[in-house]
Amino acid sequence: VESVIVAIDGPSGTGKSSTSKAVAAKLGLSYLDTGAQYRAITWWMISNGVDVHDTEAVANAASKPVIVSGTDPARPTITVDGADASGPIRTEEVTSKVSAVSAVPEVRALITELQRTIARGAETGIVVEGRDIGTTVLPDADLKIFLTASPEARAARRSGELKGADVTATKEALVKRDAADSSRKTSPLAKADDAVEVDTTELTLDQVIECVVTLVDERR
Ligand code: C5P
Repeated sequence: VESVIVAIDGPSGTGKSSTSKAVAAKLGLSYLDTGAQYRAITWWMISNGVDVHDTEAVANAASKPVIVSGTDPARPTITVDGADASGPIRTEEVTSKVSAVSAVPEVRALITELQRTIARGAETGIVVEGRDIGTTVLPDADLKIFLTASPEARAARRSGELKGADVTATKEALVKRDAADSSRKTSPLAKADDAVEVDTTELTLDQVIECVVTLVDERR
């Protein structure tokens, strides 16, 4: 196969982003962070005074922001209406509101289409990370990975990233977001039937990367 499509799904704090970027870089593939796209649209809603809990208002505004993702794994970028949004999309406010926005079907339809266009355009192939890539966005992916880890391990990693944030509070916020993402009606966070599940609780990042690279090599 000259082009390979890899879908990496799972809840937050499982090492999805670090793993996906490293695998893409090693194999010379493009990389797409779909969570960043949902964060970007959420940031636009907040900045433009749209109440994220008003489903109709969110649906009506969904097509307004122009979201562009850069797919170089060494330097992934995201812009909203031409402005760099990589900093603003990581704030606690965006993190706490993104599940409400990403649950709106009109938002998902638009972002899913964007993701499929980007994946089709990736010449050597692409690693796409998210929640519904294997189930909904790219059901024909060559390899589907579903990353998991214990809530404790996920919270510990996340608070490490947030430089010493309270682990208990981080765990509560993370469990709440995963519950919202898993229980929404439109393409919830779920493992595809044909996905390979990798529990990363006891693994180092390097071990997870190696495991995924081996699985990709087996399929091309
Ligand atoms: O991966 P990240 O934590 O940045 O994702 C942020 C949020 O975007 C998730 O909590 C979820 O609400 C949404 N998301 C989604 N579908 C995806 C990727 C992310 O609904 N494929």
